[in-house]
Amino acid sequence: MALKTRLTEMFGVETPIVMGGMTGVGYAPLVAAVANAGALGFITAHHSQTAEELEKEIQRCRDLTDKPFGVNLTLLPSLNPIPYDEYRQAIIESGIKIVETAGRAPVDHIPAFKAAGVKVIHKCTSVRHSVSAVKYGVDVISIDGFECAGHPGEDDVGLIVLLPATVDAVAPVPVIASGGMADGRSLAAALALGADGVNMGTRFMATRECAIHENVKQKIVENTERDTLLTNRTLRNTSRVARNAVSEEVVAIQQDPTKTIDDVRHLVAGVRGRTNVMGAGDTDGGIWTVGQSQGLIHDVPTCAELVHRITREAEEVIAARLDVMLGKRAMAPA
Ligand SMILES: Cc1cc2nc3c(=O)[nH]c(=O)nc-3n(C[C@H](O)[C@H](O)[C@H](O)COP(=O)(O)O)c2cc1C
Repeated sequence: MALKTRLTEMFGVETPIVMGGMTGVGYAPLVAAVANAGALGFITAHHSQTAEELEKEIQRCRDLTDKPFGVNLTLLPSLNPIPYDEYRQAIIESGIKIVETAGRAPVDHIPAFKAAGVKVIHKCTSVRHSVSAVKYGVDVISIDGFECAGHPGEDDVGLIVLLPATVDAVAPVPVIASGGMADGRSLAAALALGADGVNMGTRFMATRECAIHENVKQKIVENTERDTLLTNRTLRNTSRVARNAVSEEVVAIQQDPTKTIDDVRHLVAGVRGRTNVMGAGDTDGGIWTVGQSQGLIHDVPTCAELVHRITREAEEVIAARLDVMLGKRAMAPA
């Protein structure tokens, strides 16, 4: 594999592919498998109740890989207070050098990370939020297009426009393309649009090492790009999730703009999706997060097979397909 970008140089990884933090998915064994495949994975910090638990999760990953990996800090308001400052300390003391932040700009965490030599990749969904995160001092922007799983924001701008607009707005800060990325064509396209790498969530769910129920992986393979729904639009907290019995019920309730979170709380509860869907394999048993890129996913490979294949395909697109268009090689007969 020989795709070198500022991302591979900055983080010492072999290929410019990232697996962002994922609630219910981003545990040490998967993160280590991604790292061993030559890509950059992130442990999801808020799976751990305490800083001590996070330290153990980091160590569990270290026991499985000697390659670089990072920790995701999703900075969102929560009913149960999340010990972000303690997490930050655990990250620094564990010697982690890469953090992915999301939810809001990590203003209050940047000075300590900078002092400890930790690089911060901030993931957000708009040009304006990218620009302000760069002003606060983040090192890399990961820009999530409207296609993405989870929280695409409220602007509804697809990655084909959002990515180059962000690249221009934050230059020379490196940008990672996120949302809808699934194969080597996505990677080559993202690099062509000015990115230094891609971030994928949905694609890594359908891998052998991902610990979610096999039914969910098969559902991702069966689903098309049309099988997601947007919930919580009226609450201005949009989530892209799998189209199923529960998400259709939520969307039907939310046709009435006066409905509040209390009207859907029993349906959207994260624990319900994690237990019934990810754990027990009932893909209609609760809300589960997935992106439009499932329409491009047709198999459940190992992380190594996936990462190597995406890298090889991207190299082929760049060196064979695009090179031909420059007249440097003979075109294959039609
Ligand atoms: C099941 C699942 C859970 C996720 N949870 C989080 C999270 O807790 N924090 C976060 O920053 N991003 C989360 N994401 C978003 C991913 O890190 C990534 O930005 C997104 O999946 C990219 O879009 P894609 O799915 O089209 O590749 C989640 C994604 C999925 C699929």
